[in-house]
Amino acid sequence: MAKQFKNYIDGHWVEAKSRKTFENRSPANQKDLIGVFPLSSGDDIHRAVTAAKKALPKWSLMPAPKRGEILQKVGEIMREQKEDIAKTMTREMGKVLTETRGDVQEGIDTAFYTAGEGRRLFGETTPSELPDKFAMSVRVPVGVCGLITPWNFPMAIPTWKLFPAILCGNTVVLKPAEDTPATAVKLYQILEEAGAPPGVVNLVHGTGEETGAALVRHKDVQLISFTGSAEVGREVASSCGKDLKRISLELGGKNAQIVMEDADLDLALEGALWGAFGTTGQRCTATSRLIVHREVKEEMTKRLVAAAEKLRIGDGLDKKVEMGPLINQAARDKVHRYVEIGKKEGARLLTGGETSQKGKLANGFFYLPTVFDRVKPDMRIAQEEIFGPVISVIEVKGFEEAVEVLNGTCYGLSSSIYTKDVGRAFRAMRDLQAGITYINGPTIGAEVHLPFGGVKNTGNGHREAGTTVYDIFTEWKSIYIDYSGKLQKAQIDNVD
Ligand code: UN1
Repeated sequence: MAKQFKNYIDGHWVEAKSRKTFENRSPANQKDLIGVFPLSSGDDIHRAVTAAKKALPKWSLMPAPKRGEILQKVGEIMREQKEDIAKTMTREMGKVLTETRGDVQEGIDTAFYTAGEGRRLFGETTPSELPDKFAMSVRVPVGVCGLITPWNFPMAIPTWKLFPAILCGNTVVLKPAEDTPATAVKLYQILEEAGAPPGVVNLVHGTGEETGAALVRHKDVQLISFTGSAEVGREVASSCGKDLKRISLELGGKNAQIVMEDADLDLALEGALWGAFGTTGQRCTATSRLIVHREVKEEMTKRLVAAAEKLRIGDGLDKKVEMGPLINQAARDKVHRYVEIGKKEGARLLTGGETSQKGKLANGFFYLPTVFDRVKPDMRIAQEEIFGPVISVIEVKGFEEAVEVLNGTCYGLSSSIYTKDVGRAFRAMRDLQAGITYINGPTIGAEVHLPFGGVKNTGNGHREAGTTVYDIFTEWKSIYIDYSGKLQKAQIDNVD
């Protein structure tokens, strides 16, 4: 019998009202059934939102440092269980164990960082323009928050939304991706053990189309934080727009690494490999374009292909493996479709471009690391997010052209340049249109205490992580205290 998992609502582990379930299988081996999870509907969402609404008044009155103490405990338990969570995560979404350990660590870092914020959560004080009057601004909770998260960072992304949300005094309902529900259950078991009161954190499994959509539309949900594709993000945003709901979006990327002729090529190569093939290319920060100066293009491309062909593909739980499978059949079909598009567009396929299904890989969604050369900046493979182990090499004549090509997509999440020239590095910091810029580092590797997000179609202007996340999960309130004992009129009484 398959292991049965549940939703977590109002402090209880419960089935979906309909009792319907869905299966969770390993992408490295479809015969490996991890368990069955509740296929929840609008009824279950309604139950969870009602619990979150009920828990809100008491939770929002608990002093923020006390709320922070619970997160401190969450971080400690997570640290004890790091290896176990990482293994569960690799089993359910495929990336190698060193990376899933990193993903859990991102959750631990966020827990401790957020716990400390309980003693800050700063507002501002400022002089009033009138005598005997005091002015300040404070942060207040938004209300019930709906969090919808993807499968590629099953611990990091839920935690960087959920921890700040509850630290600020909100209550939440999380709808995790249906490909990674087991990691979400681990997170909620930890929240329960750490003492999060009933109703403050609720978990409802299911599909985006039904469960996620019900959460987005629920009238008692004041805020939606969504990380996922630009396509779904647009739908979520238009629904929230109609209801005037607060919304934070973190969507796609088409990130590029520039390699100038003066770059340390060994370093640039290592960065490109990690950026393009880490997490099998399934990061929103993944390097999907390599913009290379023509003087070093041949050399760089030759070495990239040789290194890509050496990568060991397989089950991420195997220590020797360097790249795991794609998340599911639909993802593999999509990647392959783009490879065909690239070939038709006239790009040259140097390596990869096919599934890898030999021997033990037969039951998983493996795909070979793929390198395209002679890619033109306006080709679809250089413009659209593929979300797989595919990198397009684009040759440029110099720095200005490199910047123009990097900026020439509708996305703007992460960017990188390898150069030894300080002037160019500073120009890149100024001119690259992206939420994140790395100098002599790959496009992946964001740290939790800096803002995370991007420009253009990557989002809607918000930044999660860092201190900026508190602008998402709190409302600003301005407060004036008049102790003059008389009516004082701003803009009138102090002007002669
Ligand atoms: C994502 O791909 O959605 O910088 C998040 C990184 C990670 C976070 C990625 N720390 O790649």
